[in-house]
Amino acid sequence: MHTSSQPKLIDRFGRIVDYVRISITDRCDFRCLYCMAEDMTFLPRAQILSLEEIYTIAAAFTELGVNKIRITGGEPLIRKGVLSLLNNLGNLPNLHELVMTTNGSHLVQMAAGLKQAKVKRINISLDTLNPSQFKTMTRTGDLAQVLAGIAAAKQQGFEAIKLNAVILKNRNHTEVCNLVQFAIDEGLDISFIEEMPLGIISEHNRAETYYSSAEIRRDLSHKFDLNKIDLKTAGPSDYFQVHNTSTHIGFISPHSANFCSTCNRVRITTEGRLLLCLGNEHSVDLKAILRQHPNDTELLKQTIIQAMELKPEKHEFNLNAQPIILRHMNTTGG
Ligand code: GTP
Ligand code: 5AD
Ligand code: SF4
Repeated sequence: MHTSSQPKLIDRFGRIVDYVRISITDRCDFRCLYCMAEDMTFLPRAQILSLEEIYTIAAAFTELGVNKIRITGGEPLIRKGVLSLLNNLGNLPNLHELVMTTNGSHLVQMAAGLKQAKVKRINISLDTLNPSQFKTMTRTGDLAQVLAGIAAAKQQGFEAIKLNAVILKNRNHTEVCNLVQFAIDEGLDISFIEEMPLGIISEHNRAETYYSSAEIRRDLSHKFDLNKIDLKTAGPSDYFQVHNTSTHIGFISPHSANFCSTCNRVRITTEGRLLLCLGNEHSVDLKAILRQHPNDTELLKQTIIQAMELKPEKHEFNLNAQPIILRHMNTTGG
């Protein structure tokens, strides 16, 4: 709860920023078609934030009213030392929710550690239940390993597990009913995501593979009874509930439904840039501040407060043009 005496980060449009997403590595063991080019060059070690720097930035944000942190990547579970970072973050006094987005490939070994580190909820990418299609979509991923990871996460009793499915026409669009049935059977939630044009990818033309949330909803309605629910999380999703089940279905529709007016989030890139919007380049280099003025947390906090002035009103994605945002999703964590 905010009280008037607590500090708040507020932007020019009156939006309160109380949620930070931190990408702790740009590396990943998968190469999803919509996220990466086949051949990727990753950042050299010296350019990425150390775990201590990540903690310092996170702590500064929580002193400024941020109460939710999502750890993302790349694949966050392949960063060395991730569990000790999470343990430290989990003990930050003002943090209500420490959550993570992962591809699931390392959950068999790490789910218990995440639970111990007080990670509350996790989102797991799962675009298809067809093993060969899964291999095609992720280029290197193994479906069985991810399904085992989901099972391991379920055993730990997280508050919620949400599946994320990016749907591409003529790649995996025929999987939407299978995915929802799986979510129902497993007692999980699921979000369907329209692909965003971030970074140049090699495999497909994003305008041709566009499959809208409305099309997905139509496909689902042939098999499931969906009720729109008023779950407003300040997140990008519109939510539906499958009748007679606990499963929530979210639709993240950056093209067909703009959700920027309620945006409550900013991002820290792997390189330590404070990115004010996923679909724009407005940013401030927090790593430079940290490295030039170590231990000056006041300066760090002032820099963050001032950066809110730069938060753009909304993203403008155009699937028919070359992407104007050249960074791939893996440095910003989506
Ligand atoms: P919450 O933290 O509960 O809101 O989860 P989430 O669904 O936002 O997080 P997740 O990391 O699972 O991301 C799912 C998809 O939503 C990804 O494709 C993200 O890129 C997208 N997404 C999340 N926040 C934003 C946003 O502010 N703008 C846009 N355009 N997309 C977003
Ligand atoms: N557009 C939409 N979603 C994407 N993701 C990765 N790249 C893209 C993209 N270009 C999704 C992943 C993951 C989440 C963090 O972002 O599937 O679930
Ligand atoms: Fe890795 Fe996630 Fe990008 Fe897929 S979408 S390549 S799992 S970072």
